[in-house]
Amino acid sequence: MRRPLIAGNWKMHRTPSEGAALATTLRQRIGMRSDVEILLCPAFVALQAVAEAIRGSEMKLGAQNVFWRDSGAFTGQVSPPMLVAVGCEYVILGHSETRGRFGVDDSELDASLLSYFSETEATLNRKLRAVLPHGLKPILCVGETLAERDAGQTEQVIRTQLEGALHGLASDELYELVIAYEPVWAIGTGRVCDAPEANRVCGFIRQTLRELYDDELAEFVRILYGGSVKASNAHALLHQPEIDGALVGGASLNAEEFERISYCAPRR
Ligand code: 13P
Repeated sequence: MRRPLIAGNWKMHRTPSEGAALATTLRQRIGMRSDVEILLCPAFVALQAVAEAIRGSEMKLGAQNVFWRDSGAFTGQVSPPMLVAVGCEYVILGHSETRGRFGVDDSELDASLLSYFSETEATLNRKLRAVLPHGLKPILCVGETLAERDAGQTEQVIRTQLEGALHGLASDELYELVIAYEPVWAIGTGRVCDAPEANRVCGFIRQTLRELYDDELAEFVRILYGGSVKASNAHALLHQPEIDGALVGGASLNAEEFERISYCAPRR
């Protein structure tokens, strides 16, 4: 049975002291649960403080990104061994906010600057290859934009994202992989993908793993849903058979809301 994973992606919120306070509150409320895995993904600068706040609990720590080299002249970047050293077990890769499409709907950004954020299938493949040997568990985000959905390209986009990121990786390297289906149009918009449709796409992702690899891996890998998850919609989403957890953005910054979401996960 796949253990549900409830992950909080704090994005660019919470300083180290604020993060430690939020993590301490969560630890008191849900820190010793073993029926679901609880994961906190603060900003790089808050990793150390959150690691200390959750030490000795069952909660896990994750980063929001990583570079693919272990060390070197890569100003501003953070390496896999650095994440391991600070206590990370997970790392989010390929979030739509770090892929090349980041900011495409943001009128404040100059379009010529968008390439600064351009994570591609090729760089994601490098990142996956870099983190796995360090025992870091990747949470690979995939998902379509509204324009792609409206054009009937959802499956094609996701298949391309999976094939590109996983290129050349063998089945036995991927047992710790987690995939998050995050439709771009549902992120931070309050517009959640309804549960049966989210289940259908997560089932498509599992089927794609079956085709690219084998049944055993496809049944083992956890597939999360992310995009406007709240306590009010989490029960329906988390009780879908193909959905093994949630990658929660805004609602993970509120301890009570995040706790309530975690209790929506089925006891498997
Ligand atoms: P929201 O839950 O704020 O929509 O963000 C989802 C997300 O991007 C999680 O990675």
